Amino acid sequence: MTVVLGIETSCDETAAAVVEDGRYIRSNVVFTQEELHRRFGGVVPELASREHVLGIVPAVEKALADAGATWDEIDAVAVSYGPGLAGSLVVGVNAAKAVALARAVPLVGINHLEGHVYANWLIKPERWRPLHEGEPRREARAPLFPLLCLIVSGGHSELVLMKDHGEYQHLGRTRDDAAGEAFDKVARILGLGYPGGPSVQRAVEQLRDSQGRLPLTKEYQLTRPWLRGTHDFSFSGLKTAVLRLAQGGDSGPVGNPSRHGAVAAAAAAEAGPHPHGAQIAAGFQEAVVDVLVGKTIQAAQDVGAAQIALAGGVAANKRLREVMLARAPVSVLIPDVDLCTDNAAMVAAAGYFRLQRGDCSGLDLDVKPNLRLA
Ligand code: KG4
Ligand code: ZN
Repeated sequence: MTVVLGIETSCDETAAAVVEDGRYIRSNVVFTQEELHRRFGGVVPELASREHVLGIVPAVEKALADAGATWDEIDAVAVSYGPGLAGSLVVGVNAAKAVALARAVPLVGINHLEGHVYANWLIKPERWRPLHEGEPRREARAPLFPLLCLIVSGGHSELVLMKDHGEYQHLGRTRDDAAGEAFDKVARILGLGYPGGPSVQRAVEQLRDSQGRLPLTKEYQLTRPWLRGTHDFSFSGLKTAVLRLAQGGDSGPVGNPSRHGAVAAAAAAEAGPHPHGAQIAAGFQEAVVDVLVGKTIQAAQDVGAAQIALAGGVAANKRLREVMLARAPVSVLIPDVDLCTDNAAMVAAAGYFRLQRGDCSGLDLDVKPNLRLA
């Protein structure tokens, strides 16, 4: 058995986890900084970094305690070294180096986006621990390659073909805003609250009728940015359409947001919830989900993917999960909701598979804020 300690500090969660054999979670500690950043309506890098400094040692200690693990049991330490905020990443990377040096165990640098993908194979203790003593672990699911990954987070919207563990072919990415960033900005425009993704989802759910249907009149049905012939995404036009609707105009043609738009968005956020906020949010969410699902399925067909996997914070979105499951022509993997957003179990999982291949880092590992996958 191989036990990996995972460490994650790429943005605004200070996280540490203990995972067995790359799949079996023994502990998963996430100290979120949501409250700290809420009043600014977004992550303030300097504050995030300082909070990581305060939280990292308690997070690691709690991860070991929750796992009932001693330091002697830890075989390796894995850490996100990019992409993310430099001042945040550096806290986790330095903590991981300290562990590697002090305990003389291998250090494995992990691309944060690869971590999100590996959340798909994680299984929680209550589901893997044997029901009776002496029984083997209950099995975690395994991927089918080639696996098409839709990675949608606060900073990324990517379509990546995973041919095997650690082998990625990049197919497409966002040309402007990431999907999560669009959710966050739309929530701000509509005065729905921070963080944006969950608050947009909540507003839309409250709009459903007793049969679960979403009554959306024509004015709230937004033009989908398909970018046909490519596997790229673009979401800034949808954001502009939302802004127009919020200001009382129609959704208009899809285009680029103006500087005036950003100022108006900030003013709107100050004013509290928009009277038609839920309807506009619903039009936006339906459009984003339609595009994410439609383009993922097209790409899966183009490359002959055996399976589709969702990853990243936006994969927590209820509507995205249900539409993808309903429309995909192949089986779909989706992490548990709480494993979609940033955590360290996913980093430990990815670390285990790299460790298996002898793919370790030196103690000179540095942060790479713009690191890419593939
Ligand atoms: O992966 P993540 O935790 O952090 C990054 O690596 O960026 O993703 C955070 C993003 C945020 O933009 C957040 O609004 C979005 O994921 N998100 C959601 C939902 N939960 C989180 N977006 C849509 N629906 C959700 N339920
Ligand atoms: Zn993330």
